[in-house]
Amino acid sequence: MAREPWEKPVIVMQVTGLMNKFGRRSARKAIKDIDGVLISDLVAEYGSPLFIFSERTIREKYREAKRVFSSRYPDVRFGWSYKTNYLDAICAIFHQEGALAEVVSEFEYAKARRLGVAGPDIFYNGPYKPDESLALAAKEGASIHIDNFNELEALGRLAEAQKIKARAALRLNLDAGIYPSWDRFGFNLESGEAIEAARRIAGHEHIRLEGLHVHLGTYILEPGAYATAAAKMVDLAATLKDRFGIEIGYLDLGGGFASQSTLHSQYLPAEEVSPTLNQYAEQICATLSKSRRDGQSLGLVLETGRALIDEAGYLATTVVAEKRLPSGLRSLVIDAGVNILFTSFWYKYKISTTREIHGLQEELIIHGPLCMNIDVVRPSVMLPPVELGETLLVHPVGAYNVTQWMQFIRMRPNVVLVGEDGSHELIREAETIDDIVSRERLPERLKLS
Ligand SMILES: Cc1ncc(COP(=O)(O)O)c(C=O)c1O
Repeated sequence: MAREPWEKPVIVMQVTGLMNKFGRRSARKAIKDIDGVLISDLVAEYGSPLFIFSERTIREKYREAKRVFSSRYPDVRFGWSYKTNYLDAICAIFHQEGALAEVVSEFEYAKARRLGVAGPDIFYNGPYKPDESLALAAKEGASIHIDNFNELEALGRLAEAQKIKARAALRLNLDAGIYPSWDRFGFNLESGEAIEAARRIAGHEHIRLEGLHVHLGTYILEPGAYATAAAKMVDLAATLKDRFGIEIGYLDLGGGFASQSTLHSQYLPAEEVSPTLNQYAEQICATLSKSRRDGQSLGLVLETGRALIDEAGYLATTVVAEKRLPSGLRSLVIDAGVNILFTSFWYKYKISTTREIHGLQEELIIHGPLCMNIDVVRPSVMLPPVELGETLLVHPVGAYNVTQWMQFIRMRPNVVLVGEDGSHELIREAETIDDIVSRERLPERLKLS
C-alpha cells in the first residue's frame, strides 16, 4: 500500500457559532452555470483561466440604468466608458442598446470609430489629446471635453487651420464633498478658473462651448455628492449665459457609481452598502428637474462604467496547487493572477465553487501563479474543502480588468461571451508567444549561433 506523504499537523479553529453581531457567516452558494451554460463546459472548451461575460446581464444593467434616469428626467444620454472595458463585443452591445461612446485617448477614439460610432456620438475626455487626434476629432464633430488651457489653445489653433467650429465642453473639478477630490483634471470651479476658460471661448470663432463635464471619481458611495456637483454646474451654466451669452446644452456628470464589488476596507458586503442606481438618479435628476422649472433646458449625460459592466464579468480559474504555510494558513494557488485581475488590489472578489461541496469551511489565502510575492487574489476567504483541479469562479470582475490586465510572466487568456440564447462565442483569443515576440526585434549580433 502506498504511503501518504507526511504533513505537519496543524490545529485549525472551526467557527460554528455566531461570529459577530451580524450573525453566522454563511457558505457562498455554488455557481454552476452562467445564464444556463455550465461553467465546466466552458472551461472544457476554452480552457482555464477564462473570462466569461454575460450578455444578458450587460443588457439588463444598461436598460435598468436607462429606465431609472429617463423615468425621472426627459433628456438623458449614456456614453459608454471605453476604459472600463473596451473589448469590441462589449462596446458593441452597449452601442446596440443606444449608448454613445466616452473615450480618453486617441487609441480609444480610433476604437470607437472603427466600431462604427459616428464622430458626433463621441465624448472625448482625458488630459492629453495629441494634436493629430484633436484635429481629427474636431473635424469629425466629436464633443471635445477640454482639460486645460494648453488644450484650449491647441483646439482653437487646429480648428482654425481646418476652418471649422469645434464642439467643446469644459471639464471641471469642484468640491462636491468627496475627498481627496480629483482636482488634477479640468478647470477648477471654485477658484474661477472655469469661468476664465469659458471667457476665452466666448465669441471664439472656432470653438463652440456646448457642455460642462465633471467626473467626481470612481466607486462614489455618497449619492448626495452628485446633487452638489449638479447644482454647482447648473449655477455655472446660468452664469455663463448671463456673463457671456453662452448657451450650455448638456451637463455630463461622468461616471463613478459603485458596483457590487466590495472594497478590502469595507466590513459589510457591497450588496448592503453600495447605493442603488435609483439613489444616484434621485439626487441628480431632482437637481436637474429643478433647473428645468427655473427655465433652463439642460441635457444630462452619464459616463457610467463600473456599475454597468462589473457584475456581467466572471473569471473561471483552476486550483493548481495547495500548501500549508508556516503560519498554519492554507494557501490555494490558482492559475489566474493579479496580472489579469488587476483590481484585486482594491476589491474583495467573491470566490465561489462551481459544484456543491460539503464539509467544514476553512480560511484560505488565494495566491495566483506568478512568481511574485504580491500575487494575492484574496488574502482571506472562507471555502469548503476544494480539491486540486477544482474550478472556482471569481466575480464580479467585469470592470477594468480586461483593460488594465497586463502580459506579465503569463499570457492573457480567452474571453468568452455567453449570449442571451445560451450560445457562447470567443470575443478575445488567448495570447500566444507569437503575439508577444512579433513586436520584438533581436539585433543580428545578439543572436545565438
Ligand atoms: C472621465 C471619466 N468618465 C467615466 C469614467 C467611468 O467611471 P466609473 O467606471 O467609475 O463609472 C471614468 C473612470 O475613471 C472617467 O475618468
